[in-house]
Amino acid sequence: MSAEEKRTAAPERAQKIIVAIDGPAGAGKSTIARHLARHFGLLNLETGAMYRAFALKALRSDVSLDDARALEELARETEIRLEPGDQENLVLLDGEDVSGLIRNPTVTDAASRVSVFPAVRAWMVRLQQQVGARGGVVMEGRDIGTVVFPHAEVKIFLDAAPEVRGQRRYEQIGQKGTTPAPPPQEVLRDLRARDERDRNRADSPLKPAPDAVILDSTRMSLDQALAAAEAIVAEKLNLTS
Ligand code: DC
Repeated sequence: MSAEEKRTAAPERAQKIIVAIDGPAGAGKSTIARHLARHFGLLNLETGAMYRAFALKALRSDVSLDDARALEELARETEIRLEPGDQENLVLLDGEDVSGLIRNPTVTDAASRVSVFPAVRAWMVRLQQQVGARGGVVMEGRDIGTVVFPHAEVKIFLDAAPEVRGQRRYEQIGQKGTTPAPPPQEVLRDLRARDERDRNRADSPLKPAPDAVILDSTRMSLDQALAAAEAIVAEKLNLTS
């Protein structure tokens, strides 16, 4: 195929492609996923929002976040839907739009705790495979390239030093301004605790897929990271078309 043919085939290819973006908290997954989705005309699906919605249900239900069996039962009577939104995804928990209720520190911590249980993960993975089945998506999370879509055409593992991720998170919380930002040391401490849990759980720990491209944004500006991610996808589209 000539270079010109490859270029014209790329947009069609993009309609079906699955781009998996994994990485720890604060690495910039959401911003990069949103950018790639817009740039390549794909749907952006944030799987973390689904774990967050389930965590919210667990908190509301008074179920212990350590009780695997009770959480499994709760999952059986829970319906979670994820729809692409303008900025963040729309998350429907049993039909209720909870998109604005799942980004606070209590739900953040609870999401990381409920996501260690295999039954919860198996259920989520099934849902995520259904929403992404038709392709044409950028899906971000912790296990997309390893478990949810191991055959994704593009896999990016986004990373950055914990101190840098902590600082970015701190600034994000400040910008949102909905809740007073905790001190930076506290944000970093919570982020490290979450990293620890996400990376060391027995089921689907956070780790790069063997065929993922590692993108470390520690020393990159946002624009540089966006450009690097865009180049990775563009290259794959050309190579695989
Ligand atoms: O990406 P996030 O911060 O919204 O994710 C919240 C929590 O959900 C995170 O601590 C781990 C869990 N999670 C997961 O285990 N697997 C995913 N694919 C996405 C999120």
